[in-house]
Amino acid sequence: MKSLHLSLFFFIFLSFSQHGLARSNHYCNLPSDKASTLKVFHVSSPCSPFKPKKMSWEESVIQTLIEDKARSQYLTSLVARKSVAPVAWARQLIQSPTYIVRVNVGTPPQTFLMALDTSSDAAWLPCNGCQGCGSSLFAPDKSTSFKGVACGTPQCQQVLNSGCLQNSCTFNQTYGGSTIAAALSQDTIALAQDPVPDYVFGCIQTTTGASVPPQGLLGMGRGPLSLLSQTQTLYQSTFSYCLPSFRSSNFSGSLRLGPVAQSKKMPYTQLLQNPKRPSLYYVNLIGIKVGRKTVDIPPQALAFNPNTGAGTVIDSGTVYTRLVISAYTAMRDEFRSRMGSANVTSLGGFDTCYSVPITIPTITFMFQGMNLTLQQDNFMLRSTSTSIACLAMASVPENGLNIIANMQQQNHRVLFDIPNNRIGIARETCT
Ligand SMILES: *[C@@H]1O[C@H](CO)[C@@H](O)[C@H](O)[C@H]1NC(C)=O
Ligand SMILES: *[C@@H]1O[C@H](CO)[C@@H](O)[C@H](O)[C@H]1NC(C)=O
Ligand SMILES: *[C@@H]1O[C@H](CO)[C@@H](O)[C@H](O)[C@H]1NC(C)=O
Ligand SMILES: *[C@@H]1O[C@H](CO)[C@@H](O)[C@H](O)[C@H]1NC(C)=O
Repeated sequence: MKSLHLSLFFFIFLSFSQHGLARSNHYCNLPSDKASTLKVFHVSSPCSPFKPKKMSWEESVIQTLIEDKARSQYLTSLVARKSVAPVAWARQLIQSPTYIVRVNVGTPPQTFLMALDTSSDAAWLPCNGCQGCGSSLFAPDKSTSFKGVACGTPQCQQVLNSGCLQNSCTFNQTYGGSTIAAALSQDTIALAQDPVPDYVFGCIQTTTGASVPPQGLLGMGRGPLSLLSQTQTLYQSTFSYCLPSFRSSNFSGSLRLGPVAQSKKMPYTQLLQNPKRPSLYYVNLIGIKVGRKTVDIPPQALAFNPNTGAGTVIDSGTVYTRLVISAYTAMRDEFRSRMGSANVTSLGGFDTCYSVPITIPTITFMFQGMNLTLQQDNFMLRSTSTSIACLAMASVPENGLNIIANMQQQNHRVLFDIPNNRIGIARETCT
């Protein structure tokens, strides 16, 4: 089996040159050295087939914040037993994929750059004949291992809003501002060098809106039909990633599947399961320090609440961390107070920007059992052309979700260790 690469993308403003694969670059095509480790690339890496749309730095910051807001609303709308959530935001909003993984589907393999999403469960792919999809379509009739899933099977009972069409299981769901109608299907998929036979996924027949990733999505959440559930014996519900900074020169990181290759020593915090939003990875954020000072945050702003779904999640698809407004304001005010008389400006949804050189304090997220002190690169966003620098976090309404987002995770190994109910986070320069 030819080894696969993972291509990971951060930035959002991609114009999807469909099915273009990596440019011929020796480094891009190096096989992964371990059977279950995939390479991860940034969208602006020479290894990426997608070309970012040309925008100024300011425009791209504003656009990312708009998309982030839509994602935060989408995560908040995810409620147990209700996969068709009310679409509370503009349908034309694009909620672009953040990270993409190269997956082979079918026999012989058809290659797709599927979005990785730690907050979704099921996988789905645009299929031949799809209305509203792009031009990268899976052709079931060209795969000898493809089959439909019959109505009434256990797999069909795991999808919500399922229906039955000519004894084939179908389902409908929403994703961001899009709706999806799909036929539940099975085929062999291969990640890294490991083939997974009979993987259950949705073959998209109709989609509306612009949020569906052009080459499909691979759900890495905790619920039924996710990659973790379907590769339980192979990977034992364990994976880790290292997300490269968009400034790193190699732009590469890695996704490691299964317990074998994982770091043995790292700080951990307990993973919590919230029955209100069972797919999401909740952790217990108990406080925030700016410099050495623990910020005074009302306890209910961070509290985990299984009845309301409140608390803090770790998400791969949001770019900038969001905190409920009382927590955000307390942290921001402490941060600003360190800047003395320097004038604060704003940019898009960021309200704490400076255009003069400033001395930046550390920011520490205090999780139960683990203090994570961020490097400046994880929370200060600097303009490429001007001297402006912004505190790269934003607020959500008081009843919203706190989201630890991907900029804050860059250049860290984040280990999802479900059997031991914990998440490990340790600084690592992604390669
Ligand atoms: C899914 O949506 C389609 C229209 O997009 C509709 O015809 C079908 O009945 C729906 N199926 C279910 C199971 O709700
Ligand atoms: C980039 O990757 C290559 C190949 O792995 C390595 O030799 C080089 O040192 C890396 N550069 C940086 C700046 O990490
Ligand atoms: C802040 O802005 C005001 C008004 O533009 C200006 O008078 C003042 O000098 C500025 N302060 C600093 C520290 O730059
Ligand atoms: C985290 O920092 C706080 C405040 O400095 C300290 O009291 C606590 O013991 C630390 N927790 C861990 C797990 O190191």
